[in-house]
Amino acid sequence: MELIDGRIIAKQIKDEISKEVAELLDSGKRSPHLAAVIVGEDGASLSYVASKEKQSKEVGFWSSVYRFPENATEKELLQTVDFLNNDSETDGYIVQLPLPKHINEQRILNAIKPEKDIDGFHPINVGRMTLGLPSYVPATPLGIQTLLQRSGVETCGKHCVVLGRSNIVGTPVSILLSRNNASANCTVTLCHSRTENIKEICRQADILIVAIGKPKFVTEDMVKEGAVIIDVGIHRIKDSSEKGYKLVGDVDFENVKNKCSKITPVPGGVGPMTIASLLMNTLQAYKKEIYK
Ligand code: GUN
Repeated sequence: MELIDGRIIAKQIKDEISKEVAELLDSGKRSPHLAAVIVGEDGASLSYVASKEKQSKEVGFWSSVYRFPENATEKELLQTVDFLNNDSETDGYIVQLPLPKHINEQRILNAIKPEKDIDGFHPINVGRMTLGLPSYVPATPLGIQTLLQRSGVETCGKHCVVLGRSNIVGTPVSILLSRNNASANCTVTLCHSRTENIKEICRQADILIVAIGKPKFVTEDMVKEGAVIIDVGIHRIKDSSEKGYKLVGDVDFENVKNKCSKITPVPGGVGPMTIASLLMNTLQAYKKEIYK
């Protein structure tokens, strides 16, 4: 078994971006600018936005964060979205999800200008990606596709089974990998909570992408000999270590590791690729590559 090291690949991408930013600055241009909107104090969201801010700065981007309390109104958020849509110095931005229950998430996402929607969550970007037109691709699916490309995994004609149909990972990655292009061309099966015979389907996968949100869900009896496994899950499991917990994925790594040909570890697999991909999207927004 070979590890697919997301830390190394994410670093390569960030080095490429840093180099491009340095060239922009040398030629007298301004830095790309990525902004984030965050509402409330959800721990995972705060840490994601903090990492995004730190890594943006590391590659030479300008980064800003718009923070709102948990009881912010939809109107206040829509005003900020409107400001960012029209701010000529913001190239792209994200609204960190989930939003508090009293806010209609889709209404906020629909208000983001597609040209600045570096998360690729606006229906226009989702539609364009589905049609194979130039679009922003959501960061985690793009990170997964990049991991497969850069670790030399053949996708053309392969059976890719995706577990989980979320709008952020499962659904977009299933669309992305079924498109007709050199980094895709998979035959994709998308499994979800109502899928019958999920074990049998998983056992047919050449590439198994797991974004089901259940710790250690995938075990060796669900894996075909030599399969490539991409584990999107990340869970804190209490243990007796000094930290008091360890991180595990949706895949039982120790159990499957001798059966697969390649696998992403948790942590250090898909996770680091998500922000690297968001930075790639920001650079595309700056260069106006998608919407010319
Ligand atoms: N929440 C979990 N993942 C994401 C993501 O990729 N983007 C945003 N905006 N929110 C998230």
